[in-house]
Amino acid sequence: MAQRTKYQPRSKGKAAESVRTLISHAQIERRIAELAKEIRGDFPNERLHLVGVLKGSVFFLADLARQISGELSIDFISVSSYGGGTHSSGEVKLTRDLDSSIEGKTVIVVEDILDTGMTLEYLLRVFEQRKPRRLRVAVLLDKPERRVARVRADYVGFTIPNEFVVGYGLDYAERYRNLADVGVLTLGTREKKPA
Ligand code: IMP
Ligand code: MG
Repeated sequence: MAQRTKYQPRSKGKAAESVRTLISHAQIERRIAELAKEIRGDFPNERLHLVGVLKGSVFFLADLARQISGELSIDFISVSSYGGGTHSSGEVKLTRDLDSSIEGKTVIVVEDILDTGMTLEYLLRVFEQRKPRRLRVAVLLDKPERRVARVRADYVGFTIPNEFVVGYGLDYAERYRNLADVGVLTLGTREKKPA
C-alpha cells in the first residue's frame, strides 16, 4: 500500500517540511482512465509505443498502459535536467537511451510534468530524428506558467499552478515518489523555498 500524502515532520523543534494534497489518488485514477480512452480513440487500430521518461513517469505510465486497450509496447529513456533540488539547470542530458528503435512506430512520450518544457523540447528533437510514424506527448501535470520552450502536450492530466509538487512518481531530491497523491511541497525554514 502506497503512503498517503499526510506527511509528518521527522523532528521536533526544526521547521517542518510538509506536503499538502493537491490531487488525490482517486482523481488521478479517474483522469488516467479518461486519457487512456482518448488516446486509444485517436489511434483505434495502431499498436501504441509508450516511451516513459525515467523516473518520474513510472507510476503514470504503469497506470496509463493498463487502461489502454489493444496492442501496446513500452520503453524508457532517462534524461537529467534537475540537480538534487527544485530549480532546473536548463541543461538536458541523455543518461539512458531507449532499448529499441522507434522508427515507423506510433510513439506516445509519457512524462510526469511539463514545466519549463526544456526536457520535452530536447526529447522531441531527438525522437523526431529517429523517424517515428507519429509522435505524441502525454503528461500527467502541466505547469504552463513556467514554460520557456515552445512545446505542448497532446494529452494533459491536470493543469496546475506554479508550485513545486511531489508524489505519484514526482520527487524532491529522490524523496516522496511513493506518495499516492500529488501534493505541494513546503520545505522547512532552514531550507530554500521551492521554485
Ligand atoms: P522541464 O524540463 O522544466 O519541463 O522539467 C521537466 C522535469 O523537471 C520533470 O520531468 C520533473 O522531473 C522535473 N520537475 C519539474 N517541475 C517539478 C515539480 O514541481 N516537482 C517535481 N519535479 C519537477
Ligand atoms: Mg521527469
